[in-house]
Amino acid sequence: MISASILSADFSRLKEEISAVIHAGADRIHLDVMDGHFVPNLTFGPPIVQCLGELPRPMDAHLMVENPEDYLEPFAETGCRVITIHVETGRHLHRLLTHIRELGCEAGISLNPATPVELLRPVLPFVDVILVMTVNPGFGGQKMIPEVLPKITELSRMVADSGYPVTLEVDGGINRETISDAAHAGATRFVVGSGIFKTPDYLTTITTLKERGCTTDTSPALEV
Ligand code: DX5
Ligand code: ZN
Repeated sequence: MISASILSADFSRLKEEISAVIHAGADRIHLDVMDGHFVPNLTFGPPIVQCLGELPRPMDAHLMVENPEDYLEPFAETGCRVITIHVETGRHLHRLLTHIRELGCEAGISLNPATPVELLRPVLPFVDVILVMTVNPGFGGQKMIPEVLPKITELSRMVADSGYPVTLEVDGGINRETISDAAHAGATRFVVGSGIFKTPDYLTTITTLKERGCTTDTSPALEV
């Protein structure tokens, strides 16, 4: 499943860009919300998302913000399907994740490249999606850190052992060249920003991403 991150889209034509990637096969729209504190960049908040109206594909909010508790309700009101918070920002993770579900959304948790996967074990029953960052968040167009991929494999084992139905998603530097490594590591959902929006033909790109991101091999290729 391909989730198109609008961070690298042309914001002067945002609605057009979103329609174009949906027509080209994007399964979801990924919204990178940055506050200039947790990450050194600013993007947009709920009013802009509200302007997008109802889309034919789900929108996922990736909150790279301090105090995520202040933004859960406003993002739920925009109709986002998933709200993802960062493990590094939540002091009361169970409360926050439970609140996301109570608001009618799926609860996502993300972790930075240097954050150990073990921190997620206690919250697995409260989580629907784990978003593994393969770059340090803040900017689109960065190079994937391949050393992070074994964490996905580790997490897929942890999730399988737990028995909870948690989706593993990967974000950062995913493109036509890197997607199959992420898939072999165990990811099934891929956030792609510049790897789509900075290419000339979205249809060809997304078709290739889907072919290369599809793996029938369920045994992890990477040793942990
Ligand atoms: C990074 C964001 C990503 C970003 C990915 O902070 O969370 O979603 O848009 O962009 P690419 O695919 O260009 O690395
Ligand atoms: Zn993101």
